[in-house]
Amino acid sequence: MASGKRESFDNPVVEWIDSRLPLFTLMNKEYGVFPVPKNFNYFWNFGAIASFMLITMIVTGIILAMQYTANIHMAFDSVERIMRDVNFGWLIRYIHMNGASFFFIAVYIHIFRGMFYGSYKAPREILWILGVIIFLLMMATAFIGYVLPWGQMSYWGATVITNLFSAFPIIGEPIVTWLWGGFSVDNPTLNRFFALHYLLPFIIFAVVFLHVWALHVCGSNNPLGIEPQDKKDTLPFHPYYTMKDSFGLLVFLILFCAFVFFMPDALGHPDNYIPANPLVTPAHIVPEWYFLPFYAILRAITFDTNLVMLGGFGLMFMPFFWNVLAMLVKQFAKMDLPRFKAMTPKAPFLIGGLVVAGAGFALSGLIPLLTDVTIIEAKLGGVLAMFGAIVLWIFMPWLDSHPVRSAMFRPVFKTLFLILVVDFIFLGYVGSQPADAMLVGLPLSIFGLIATAYYFAFFVVVLPILSVTEQGKPLPKSIHDAVLSQHKAAKAAKK
Ligand code: HEM
Repeated sequence: MASGKRESFDNPVVEWIDSRLPLFTLMNKEYGVFPVPKNFNYFWNFGAIASFMLITMIVTGIILAMQYTANIHMAFDSVERIMRDVNFGWLIRYIHMNGASFFFIAVYIHIFRGMFYGSYKAPREILWILGVIIFLLMMATAFIGYVLPWGQMSYWGATVITNLFSAFPIIGEPIVTWLWGGFSVDNPTLNRFFALHYLLPFIIFAVVFLHVWALHVCGSNNPLGIEPQDKKDTLPFHPYYTMKDSFGLLVFLILFCAFVFFMPDALGHPDNYIPANPLVTPAHIVPEWYFLPFYAILRAITFDTNLVMLGGFGLMFMPFFWNVLAMLVKQFAKMDLPRFKAMTPKAPFLIGGLVVAGAGFALSGLIPLLTDVTIIEAKLGGVLAMFGAIVLWIFMPWLDSHPVRSAMFRPVFKTLFLILVVDFIFLGYVGSQPADAMLVGLPLSIFGLIATAYYFAFFVVVLPILSVTEQGKPLPKSIHDAVLSQHKAAKAAKK
């Protein structure tokens, strides 16, 4: 049975295999002649770098698992044995430890690249959503992996984060007991975390497969954010981008090796070299650096959400939720509900909602019944904000409906987005500091709250409003035209 058109290869062995299982035809179609926009910059290297890091983590993880013991009495010592007695155990462990950090560096750059150049917009929504799912899975994997060495930070980090689930009313406590497999973080917890830490990377691998599949269906975006129109706008993936990706990877690996060989513990916490002790709480429990911005968001919510504030938030998203409802009703009940034109929340609702929510916050406790009724307690609010900060990314394609993709042609978006990047890094700093830290004579927590407010405002207020108000700059006619005019300008400047 023939399926699709096969290529013929000069090499007789390749030809023999391909005529029976067209693997080489498939590889050549997807990674050889695959047309790719010819104007990629170095930010487009990070998907390939992330793929390389994922494989590195799986390979080094499997080797570590051969020597690791998932038992609270032996885990810490088994890691020390890997470091001291196992041949090259130190190298494998340092690659795995620092690999997690570098994997996150690559993926953070990859995500912010996607946001900057509008890669989340149609037709790449599913590709984007799969990316957000990958990121959530990566966070879960990294969190449970950090518990395995059974150091002080492993134990106390696990205790703090799993305890967060107790914030959910009624089901919270049973969920935590179920997660722990007992009444505290203990041996059953370590055992299941090890099992899951082995499993999750393979699930990530499967989702990455879907992610790249979706990419190959709609093709890559590019720094200009316009679609390629003909052959002049693209290049075959091989040898152009195989070479460019290899070069980028090499530079990245030089930096990675500098950490692995010269400062392997720089990104970790010294307390994790102290065996876990349930009787001694570390003075300052901090997660790994890549969780810090979200940890700061968790800690920023120190106030209860009352009925008025919730009403305000509801108002902000009314057009958005209404349109989602209309879509679902149309799909499943085959009925037409009136639509708010586009999926994007509307400016009057956003501003009105913000005013109501702000009033609810300011008047807390002043108008009995309305502002007295706590709907979401501070702890639950923090947990929802932390997870919401990532889940919100899923909705980006609908929160930002501006017709222009790339920030290169949206000056206001560009400025506010760059502020978001600085804001995110600042949140990381806030998350790294003790809860009672001060900055310029004021509690750091106030700055944390302001930075959290900007983070959310960017997605739920700025994006929808700019979608309808921002005048984009004129777009080039084609990728080829833009590349050529850039080339001409550079030549003229040289003269
Ligand atoms: C294990 C983690 C990941 C791997 C291995 C991975 C892999 C890749 C690869 C190989 C590409 C094509 C090359 C490139 O555009 O850089 C790509 C594109 C893309 N990825 Fe990922 N990715 C990962 C995580 C994510 C995450 C977390 C997001 C977003 C939340 C994301 C969003 C995107 C988007 C939007 C594109 C298309 C970019 C464009 O066409 O401009 N990816 N990914």
